[in-house]
Amino acid sequence: MDISTRLAPGLCLKNPILSASGTFAYGEEFARMFDLSLLGGVVTKGLSLHPKEGNPTPRVCETSCGMLNAIGLENIGVDAFIAQKLPFLGTFDTEVVVNFFGTGEDEYAHMAQKLDIEGVSAIEMNVSCPNIKKGGIEFGKDPKILNRLVAQVRQSTTKPLIVKLSPMVTHIGEMALAAQEGGADALTCSNTFPAMAIDENTWKPILGNITGGLSGPAVKPIALRIVWEVSRQAAIPVIASGGITSWRDVVQFLLAGASAVEIGSFSLRDPLCFGVIIQGLIRYMHDNSLESITEIIGKLRTP
Ligand SMILES: Cc1cc2nc3c(=O)[nH]c(=O)nc-3n(C[C@H](O)[C@H](O)[C@H](O)COP(=O)(O)O)c2cc1C
Repeated sequence: MDISTRLAPGLCLKNPILSASGTFAYGEEFARMFDLSLLGGVVTKGLSLHPKEGNPTPRVCETSCGMLNAIGLENIGVDAFIAQKLPFLGTFDTEVVVNFFGTGEDEYAHMAQKLDIEGVSAIEMNVSCPNIKKGGIEFGKDPKILNRLVAQVRQSTTKPLIVKLSPMVTHIGEMALAAQEGGADALTCSNTFPAMAIDENTWKPILGNITGGLSGPAVKPIALRIVWEVSRQAAIPVIASGGITSWRDVVQFLLAGASAVEIGSFSLRDPLCFGVIIQGLIRYMHDNSLESITEIIGKLRTP
């Protein structure tokens, strides 16, 4: 049985299961619990050019069927990652996908250049970030700005380039095409959804940042629709992200058109879920006499 999946020229995962950015840090904590080599790939915490402190606490809270986070992209910075974390990730037989972001086009390009090194299998651009020079509008909200950004990053790296889309747009297909035409090799759909929680006793917001990003099972049906829409319009592979907790969810996202999936919030609740989900997928394929996951990808039966 072949559960490998191809995301870009030079990027083939042995299975379609990746960690998601920000819920797996740089892999060290999870490596104490299981062998990271079982994963198709590890996606790192989002990196910036300089270390970033992030938002005031509380930064996370539970909601019905999900969680909110307002970490504020805290990270150790790209240089410390390369020096201190990348060598450790290189000891595993898995693909290392480095998530990153910048404050402007040049910074994104500079980051991509810095990450064009051995040990990095691919880079994943988080475009749900404010463009400081353009009054703070997110890069991922305007197709022209996104297209230019991706094109500049494309010229700065030889690595497979994955663009992680923001779900907060009217026409997600338009954004997907803008990224594809800019030179993206694959698209991750999608990032978290802006949301908030309020304490009725204190009359205060629960998060220090007031608002945060919603993730977990609450967003799964929306993520499924986004993956379906994007994979029908874009010609490049789609990686699903949003609310995945089981092999059943994985099969659903593959049917909707995803070539791989990232598991985020659920791995905070059950760090060992990755192996269980891979085994479940293998059993499902065996029970249904499927020899390759390409027999599932995009095979949704629509009326
Ligand atoms: C605590 C936390 C931190 C996150 N940090 C990042 C990040 O640094 N970069 C990024 O692109 N996405 C980040 N995300 C979004 C996740 O990678 C993922 O796209 C999202 O949570 C949806 O998947 P899930 O429902 O499986 O968690 C973060 C999510 C959480 C919950």
